[in-house]
Amino acid sequence: MTNEDKNNGSQSESLSRRNMLTAAAVASAAGAMAFQANAQTAGAAPAAARQGDRKVAVVTGSSRGIGAAIAKRLACDGYKVTVNCVVNRDLAAAVVRDIKAAGGDAIWEQADVSDPAAVRRLFDANDKAFGGVDVVVSNAGIMRLAPFRDMTDQDFGRMVDVNMKGGFYVMREGARRVRNGGRIIGLSSSITQLRSPTYGPYAATKIAHEIYANILAKELEGKQISVNAMAPGLVNTTLFTDGKTEAQIAGFVQRTPHKRLGEPSDIADVVSVLCGKDGGWVNGQTIFANGGVV
Ligand SMILES: NC(=O)c1ccc[n+]([C@@H]2O[C@H](COP(=O)([O-])OP(=O)(O)OC[C@H]3O[C@@H](n4cnc5c(N)ncnc54)[C@H](OP(=O)(O)O)[C@@H]3O)[C@@H](O)[C@H]2O)c1
Repeated sequence: MTNEDKNNGSQSESLSRRNMLTAAAVASAAGAMAFQANAQTAGAAPAAARQGDRKVAVVTGSSRGIGAAIAKRLACDGYKVTVNCVVNRDLAAAVVRDIKAAGGDAIWEQADVSDPAAVRRLFDANDKAFGGVDVVVSNAGIMRLAPFRDMTDQDFGRMVDVNMKGGFYVMREGARRVRNGGRIIGLSSSITQLRSPTYGPYAATKIAHEIYANILAKELEGKQISVNAMAPGLVNTTLFTDGKTEAQIAGFVQRTPHKRLGEPSDIADVVSVLCGKDGGWVNGQTIFANGGVV
């Protein structure tokens, strides 16, 4: 075979490959558009879906707030999703309904992440429904604010139980179960940098996620699993707004370069990138998504 033959051969090979890729892209775009139209009707975030390539995500604390936005966004991106709540079963069921109405697939499971047996049950339910897991988002969290002198044992203990211990139990199941090439993300907070008064114990329990992610990323070497912490700031959910006056919230908004609170979808957008095919090289990091407030 001459060099020209080889060139012609490789050209026609690359042409037919390009045609195949174009056909696949058109089919995928058509599917994505149909899914996206449904997703928009159902209130899920718009994004390109990969209908034929459904992987599986478990998102803890996804009955509302940031977790619900992440669950819907990952469903929109083509993941089957296990939604989780601790008390608001109706809200978790509604997230599942929204995902299904948009053409996705999801289940919900009540599980308190501060209970390691419940966390195992959550992942068992996911595995039973979907056969395994590719993405874990350890999002469930609570916030109790008080100056050191007024913080109660009960509030401090519950933050340690849910945020620090619960975050660990979820990451541990992720370490045991996420399939090669997957992603694990833990929710920290930009307060680990801002360090405002009254946030001490909360910030301390959230920074654990930054340490978990960095060390677990190293422990999972060879599996092409990327592990990161997401650190949002000033996101418009009840966790942030409850207990604050309008004036206090306006004061926070004034401190942000974009002069607005973040929305749960702002955080879901970044999680989508990290979980997408182009996000794998970000590994062991803390990603601060706060509109520039820190
Ligand atoms: N909002 C912010 O400005 C902000 C900033 C930085 C970091 N974060 C972090 O982002 C994450 C989500 O925050 P968010 O603002 O979306 O909070 P949110 O609106 O209060 O929602 C919290 C979610 O976590 C679930 N949850 C709470 N305790 C749980 C437990 N023990 N076991 C299982 N699920 C539990 C809740 O379920 P139920 O509905 O059943 O109660 C709910 O789905 C948290 O880890 C938070 O620390 C938030």
